[in-house]
Amino acid sequence: MSPATAHVTFFPEGKSVEVAVGTHLSRAAALAGAFIDSPCGGRGACGKCRVQANGALSELTAAERNKLTMEDLDEGWRLACQATVIGDTKVKVPFGSLQIVLSGIQQQGKLAPGIRKVFLKLPEPTVEDQRADVERLRAALGAGARVSLDAARDLGHVLRAADFAVTAVLAGDECFAVEPGDTRTALYGIAFDIGTTTVVGVMLDLNTGEQVAVASALNGQAAHGADVISRINFAMSGPENLAELQRAVWETINGVIAQILRQSGVLRERIYELVAVGNTTMSHLLLGINPASLALAPYVPVNGEARVERADRLSAAINPRGPVYALPNIACFVGSDTVGVIMATRVHDGDRVRLAIDIGTNGEIVLGSRRRLLACSTAAGPAFEGAEITFGMRATDGAIEKVWIEDDVKVQTISKGRPRGICGSGLIDAVAEMLRLGLLDQSGRLIAQDDACQALPRALCDRLVQTERGYAFVLATVGKQQVYLTQQDVRKLQLAKGAISAGIAILMKELGVGYDDIAEVLLAGAFGSYVNPASSRAIGLVPAFPLSRLISVGNAASVGARLALLSTEARGEAEEIAARVEHVELSSRPDFQDIFVESMFFPPPAVRLG
Ligand code: FES
Repeated sequence: MSPATAHVTFFPEGKSVEVAVGTHLSRAAALAGAFIDSPCGGRGACGKCRVQANGALSELTAAERNKLTMEDLDEGWRLACQATVIGDTKVKVPFGSLQIVLSGIQQQGKLAPGIRKVFLKLPEPTVEDQRADVERLRAALGAGARVSLDAARDLGHVLRAADFAVTAVLAGDECFAVEPGDTRTALYGIAFDIGTTTVVGVMLDLNTGEQVAVASALNGQAAHGADVISRINFAMSGPENLAELQRAVWETINGVIAQILRQSGVLRERIYELVAVGNTTMSHLLLGINPASLALAPYVPVNGEARVERADRLSAAINPRGPVYALPNIACFVGSDTVGVIMATRVHDGDRVRLAIDIGTNGEIVLGSRRRLLACSTAAGPAFEGAEITFGMRATDGAIEKVWIEDDVKVQTISKGRPRGICGSGLIDAVAEMLRLGLLDQSGRLIAQDDACQALPRALCDRLVQTERGYAFVLATVGKQQVYLTQQDVRKLQLAKGAISAGIAILMKELGVGYDDIAEVLLAGAFGSYVNPASSRAIGLVPAFPLSRLISVGNAASVGARLALLSTEARGEAEEIAARVEHVELSSRPDFQDIFVESMFFPPPAVRLG
């Protein structure tokens, strides 16, 4: 007897799926391609996978009773990682799509892609010219050319159907496809940045180097945790889980490709190559390599080198014979996305020492010049991405993204929605402003309300309140709902920013440079694009440089992938970079703990104000 099933539909997108009774809502969402934020990986610990469900669901679990208020329950809120499906259910997922950084700094490279097309008008066979078709094609392509078995299989038919006027498609010296007629103008590839949270694809015309279309999606692996450690743990608990993570990321990539095809009107078969960068865990999962060793001392990757694999062997929905090129990784938590950042910013070949910072759950930091290049990764924790903070949330609709304080607190939310919580940029702004006004001291302690009332406007001191989560500062109130920052939240931020600034300090120490020796600080990724540099400096997340030396470089990892797509020379450079970068393992440094503890303090006012 087949198991009973139920229909689950996710709104606002209206995505539906049929699942076996007993399936968790989070799993159903993953199968339907709907995104539900699951920072704790479904342990019931974070309470961030809240959805409003209407239908037949399991009884409340202890975790749900703990995380949801009576009011929440009356309104139909459930935790997607806890509630299982019993019958047909409609689910409202509260947040819209994430803010994703699609653009990056411009970087011109030489146009010499790995794929090329050659149009040929071959001589037709005659009684005098009895060469085989493959031989005829190879002779026309020139010395060293090879013809793959796949191309040979098509060749007889294509040549005769097209009167021997064909386009050969080559990867290096190998012709892997022949197309009837002259198709040289249709030559495309896609560069992917595979993030733990988001996946961004950019389609380029390989004849001109121009960008044709860009699309993004949330990584379908999210149901198995927000950070790489949760994903690695999931992969380690069974071969089927590793397969599930690989399937989920390729499903996401193929969804992005489908969007790109719709936007551009280009045929799937005309996309001949896919180039990918990602952190080391994503690079492993993309290729179906078990990432277990990344979570176990002494923390080494299974695969560091660049990899080329046929598209159909990885389920990439491009021309099935085209190659997928994955850039090399540097170390356990410094992946090919950092190689991409280096390529895009050219930190590796300038005379001046520069610092590049890419902050997500992990912060990757690169410091150096053409003489010497160092990199490290710091476990900043997910505070900047909204997890672990009482009202933290990702950068989606309703997240407070900017905070400034005049006589009272002013906030700006994403999509101008009702404030639901606070994302990384809002959190950094809020703390910077609270420091400026003395609501927080240098140690991160929230000022007592009595003291605040003596020194600050009434409206501000009234915002210091006791809540069920402890002493807090209220940022916004809508109806009965408040969004506040607790003392504990400030401590979490201090841990996160301490990890990043300690990483920077150790790289500086290792390279033997001071602040004055660093010409520029390049802020990459969403952090660099959305976070106010002055606020980052005020809380000591980045060193106290003049603001003119803090430069946002957008999605630099994606720019690196684009460079590699457009030029085999750039791929050679990527491989050299990965081999050349000296990885500094922070956990093995005896001075890390002291520097980290010191870095958790906020800078004194003179430094903050620059
Ligand atoms: S509580 Fe469900 S993912 Fe954390």
